[in-house]
Amino acid sequence: MAKYAVVTMPGDGIGKIVLPEALRVLDAVGFDAQYIHGDIGWEFWRKEGDALPKRTLDLLARHKLGLFGAITSKPKAKADKELAPELQGKGFTYFSPIVGMRQHFNLDVCVRPCKSFKGNPLNFVRRKGAACEEPKVDTVIFRQNTECLYSGVEWTNPPDEVRKALETHPKMKAFKNVASPDLAISCRIFSRPACQRILEEAFKHARKYGYKSVTLTEKPNVIRETSGMMLAEAVKIQKNYPEIQLWENNIDAQMMWLTKNPEDFGVIVAGNMFGDIVSDGFAGLVGGLGFACSANIGKEVAIFEPTHGSAPKYEALKPSIVNPIAMLMSAVMMLDHVGEHDRAGRITEAIAKVVEEGKVRTYDMLRLAGGPDVFSKGAASTDQMTDAVIAKI
Ligand code: NAI
Ligand code: MG
Repeated sequence: MAKYAVVTMPGDGIGKIVLPEALRVLDAVGFDAQYIHGDIGWEFWRKEGDALPKRTLDLLARHKLGLFGAITSKPKAKADKELAPELQGKGFTYFSPIVGMRQHFNLDVCVRPCKSFKGNPLNFVRRKGAACEEPKVDTVIFRQNTECLYSGVEWTNPPDEVRKALETHPKMKAFKNVASPDLAISCRIFSRPACQRILEEAFKHARKYGYKSVTLTEKPNVIRETSGMMLAEAVKIQKNYPEIQLWENNIDAQMMWLTKNPEDFGVIVAGNMFGDIVSDGFAGLVGGLGFACSANIGKEVAIFEPTHGSAPKYEALKPSIVNPIAMLMSAVMMLDHVGEHDRAGRITEAIAKVVEEGKVRTYDMLRLAGGPDVFSKGAASTDQMTDAVIAKI
């Protein structure tokens, strides 16, 4: 019997292309795992009215470890229209399966490392006199993954009792002349235990990997209650980590600082919305979607995924042009999570060598517009990139 069991969920579009590439690399380092396929995505919405079937949740509950590619989501009207005719009008509502998995298993800690690989032509550079300098970015974002504006507590045309409850707050006076159908409300909800957990994980990570600072990226001067609670907890938790400084930047200022001196930031911690924003910002400094990996970690279940989507426009291209590195690095995060640090390190080093050597580059690394003609312009295919990584292993 294999040492590990991993639920593999390729999903839609290029998820189906990049996930098998990760398995090839995991095999190459001798990761002793059994892979169990999990259904997820658009196909299951259309055929069953559920993009995240219960059988997949059951597999994840049993095996605790998931590797996920990407899914396709579409706006409500389109989703309803694409549902199988026999299911239409039967009360099925599309819900994002990735958000669904995060909420079902309370995967409340999202980790998004953004580290530059030396020689990546997509790395952030800064003018210095006539030349350019390339600061090494090594930032890990800890994003609270289940609450905030993503809690799903929202209304357009709120019910009267909601409206009445809100009107107990003096600031609601500003909206007193707005008719309910013209009122859209999305609740930003933070809970103290969830704030404490994401902060604790961020500080633990900083200690374990020797980062000198944890930067809280919220907006407590304006969003006083939610961001304020996170800040109050951060100040308390930092006391247990005296060797690590707590820095605090508002999200807007943080987006400015990351384009000025990103190398200053070690661990960043934020609520769901601002964590989403700041992690894409940092990912842009180290290669963008082709390089952005992530982990969704709960107390029992953990799921690893590239942050990119299903890129439907490239799904049918054969050979495929997309960059598998974000998916490969997500598999590396899974290895680290289960304590397979040696194998994780071997894959990371192999990717680093391929990137630095510069002989094999996918279209995004060459800044080409995606399409079937990228090969004639020197781009490598998805499987050529994986082959190059495996050769280095
Ligand atoms: P996307 O991430 O699929 O694509 C955005 C851009 O990046 C496109 O130009 C794409 O071609 C490029 N790109 C993406 N992955 C790449 C890779 N590995 N290598 C090179 N280039 C890459 O986001 P988009 O286009 O906004 O959404 C497409 C679909 O994916 C939508 O249905 C959306 O809802 C879904 N989505 C799913 C996510 C998930 O499964 N976690 C996350 C984001 C979007
Ligand atoms: Mg995002």
